[in-house]
Amino acid sequence: MSERVPATSSHDLPVPPALAEFMLGGWGPTEAPVRTDPGVAGWAAKRRARLSGMFPGEHLVIPAGGPPVRSNDQFFRFRPGSDYTWLTGDGDRGGVLVLNPAGEATLYTDEPPRPGTAAYWTDRNAGIVWNGPRADLATLGEALEIRCRPMGELATTLGAAGRTRLLRTVDPVVDALVPVTDPVADGDLVVALADLRLIKDEWEVGQLQHAVDVTVRGFEDVVRALPAALAGGGERWLEGTFARRARTDGEEVGYQPIVAAGGHAAVLHWNRNTGPVRPGQLLLLDAGVEVGSRYTADITRVLPVDGRFSPLQRDVYELVRRANDAAIGQLRPGAMFRDYHWAAMAVFAAGLVDLGLLRCSVEEALDPERQLYRRWTLCGSGHMLGLDVHDCGRATTARYVEGELQAGMVLTVEPGLYFQPNDELVPAELRGLGMRIEEDLLVTEEGSQNLSAALPRTADDVESWMSGLAG
Ligand code: GLY
Ligand code: MN
Ligand code: MN
Repeated sequence: MSERVPATSSHDLPVPPALAEFMLGGWGPTEAPVRTDPGVAGWAAKRRARLSGMFPGEHLVIPAGGPPVRSNDQFFRFRPGSDYTWLTGDGDRGGVLVLNPAGEATLYTDEPPRPGTAAYWTDRNAGIVWNGPRADLATLGEALEIRCRPMGELATTLGAAGRTRLLRTVDPVVDALVPVTDPVADGDLVVALADLRLIKDEWEVGQLQHAVDVTVRGFEDVVRALPAALAGGGERWLEGTFARRARTDGEEVGYQPIVAAGGHAAVLHWNRNTGPVRPGQLLLLDAGVEVGSRYTADITRVLPVDGRFSPLQRDVYELVRRANDAAIGQLRPGAMFRDYHWAAMAVFAAGLVDLGLLRCSVEEALDPERQLYRRWTLCGSGHMLGLDVHDCGRATTARYVEGELQAGMVLTVEPGLYFQPNDELVPAELRGLGMRIEEDLLVTEEGSQNLSAALPRTADDVESWMSGLAG
């Protein structure tokens, strides 16, 4: 994929002809397994068939993209685009998937340079000595059950293709190969993929449960690491603790974790994670492991860093927990996606009236024309979850945010209360408290299944879980 790499001046040493000659011989074969779940190929084939069925007679082009630049010629570790992974079962290698008008799939990707070629040791982007072995196309095709062809053939294929829709802005090289003739048609492909991905198949649910299970282990690690954080390690130490679990039992973190002690917990996306952890504080930990298949969890717990909630912390925590219970109680096929949010807000409005923060009746507090409670709830109460932590963001409004829940959807439930440290409308003891419980749930025919039920929810259960881990 050398075309994707921005040109920078080379600091590689010139190669004398004698060395070039010497490097061509004396190598045995290289071996590389394909990193994919053996069970995924059949599921991916069904997904491709559904997508092709929506666009009969057309070529559909779904690139994996390339690694983003971190700085100059340093790259972030590569992760294929989620639509590509969903359609191929490949969360590792990358390439460009083309579905022809008959729905037949071809995956275009680079054949790794073989030992005995110059590129094997001189190409810093593709060379095996630079980046490690990669399976040849025959082995890759066998594992993914997709015909694989060299990337060099892609331009010819696309040049000869008739009506073509491309998932644009994923890969500038592929964008340049397919002139824009109908931007609306390309946009429809984006939406179709998001709509299809709203309902998880059985294999995907298994992957999400696996991601949650590893994340639970990461949360346990963080609890065990609290003494080190209190002794000076701070939020950074806990972030590193979770990242080690994510990297060891999964692939990496599915998003920048939020490790927020004290007043940082009131910052919705605090992910600088640079603060100290002090006795008496609460820690809000929002983190998820992305497993090898690229599915991620997204879980939040609030932990009293000394193992015990103060009476005030406990009261606010239990209010958040009741809002979460009420939200989960709304989940079932046929309910509107927004219903669970409104159920949580009703609990919060009543709680904020009880706390004396809202000086009106609960009905007035919930008046859709006013919604003053939102000063302390700030955001929505959840989102779809899958390959992306905020999954299916481009789905049709009528199917997602203004649509009905269906069995097979996986979503988060995460209503929270946030009192900013500088909020002069709340008593001093509430300032800087940020509380959210975030669960990952599967909508089932009967209602819902909490995939993250292995973590404690009530204040009492959080305390006993923490004390069990400390012992
Ligand atoms: N961690 C991002 C979210 O909870 O949506
Ligand atoms: Mn989260
Ligand atoms: Mn979330």
